[in-house]
Formats: sequence, C-alpha cells, structure tokens
Amino acid sequence: MKLGKTLISEHEIQHRTSQLAHQIVNDFKDDEILIISVLKGAFMFTADLIRRISKLDAKIEIDFIRARSYGSGKDSSGVVKLDLDVSADLKNRCVLLVDDIVDSGNTLKQVCEYLNGKGAAKVSTCVLLDKPARRTTDFVPDYIGFEIPDYFVVGYGLDYNERGRCLPFITHIVD
Ligand code: IMP
Ligand code: MG
Repeated sequence: MKLGKTLISEHEIQHRTSQLAHQIVNDFKDDEILIISVLKGAFMFTADLIRRISKLDAKIEIDFIRARSYGSGKDSSGVVKLDLDVSADLKNRCVLLVDDIVDSGNTLKQVCEYLNGKGAAKVSTCVLLDKPARRTTDFVPDYIGFEIPDYFVVGYGLDYNERGRCLPFITHIVD
C-alpha cells in the first residue's frame, strides 16, 4: 500500500474534534449522551471525542456496535451486517452515533433505523469525514468533522484491508 500526501494532520483532527465536542455538549444540554461508536473504524475518533466531551462536564455513557458494509474492497456492498450489538437499553435515550466516515450513507442510515427501532428517544450522528460525492442515500449526518473529495483514505481508525488504521492522521492511498 502506497500512501499519498497527508490530507488532514493530527493537529487539525484534534482541533476540529474539540470544536465538535463543544457543539455537541451545547446541543445536548443536560441530557445524558449515550455515545455509540461504530467499530472498528470509529474507535480512535470516539476515544478523542469522548475525552473532549468529558472535559466539558457532560454526562456520557459509551457503547459499541459493529457494522460492516465493506468486504475487502473500496465499494459499499449496500448490505449492512451487524457483528456486535449494543448492550445498553436504548429506551428513551439520547443517542449520538459516532462513525469514521460517511460514504454511500448505507451504514449509518441502516444503523440509525435499527437504533430507532430499539426505542431511542433521538439518534443523532457524528462523523469525522464526509464524502458527499459518493452518497447514494438521503442520509445527512448531524455533525461532520471534515468534508473530503472522493479519495479512499486511511489513518485515524480508517483502513484498507486492515492497513493504515493506526496512523494518527488521514492520508490517501495511491494505487
Ligand atoms: P457507507 O455505508 O458507504 O457510508 O460506508 C461507510 C463505511 O465504509 C465506513 O464506516 C468505513 O468503514 C468504510 N469506508 C468508506 N469510505 C472509506 C474510505 O475512504 N476509507 C476507509 N473506509 C471507508
Ligand atoms: Mg466503518
């Protein structure tokens, strides 16, 4: 795997994450936020985001879900499979679903419907990256870190066949 130039630096990610945390805490006010992180891609972003949110004294609980729509390629299969379910009771909870990137929108659209079906009072969504050019659904995230062009990117949790996930910045791969 050959990496291209850095698209978003570690510093830019941290700065933007802090801004998002402020916006989220401001919007959720006194409601406890049940953060549901979509594994594996969102693990690094979630870890930084929840630390920023905690510093602002918001009440949060964390849970995980594992969904995949990708096999080993770069295109969404459109079929979202759940490998790991949330353990929290979602009845009347204010959920913030956190993912790494929204591409076609299939994953988050379907996971949101699933969580709503479990009785959540509200499901909001936060993504680090948005590739609007690739959207094939009407899904619109509530909080977006960065809009990026139609590149396949890795780093900061995002992978290509499990490579690149642990880099602290976002870069793209060149074939
Ligand atoms: P969607 O269902 O098409 O919106 O795709 C969402 C999922 O595909 C994300 O949660 C990622 O796991 C993966 N994905 C989409 N684009 C990229 C990319 O550029 N790099 C790495 N993973 C990606
Ligand atoms: Mg993902």
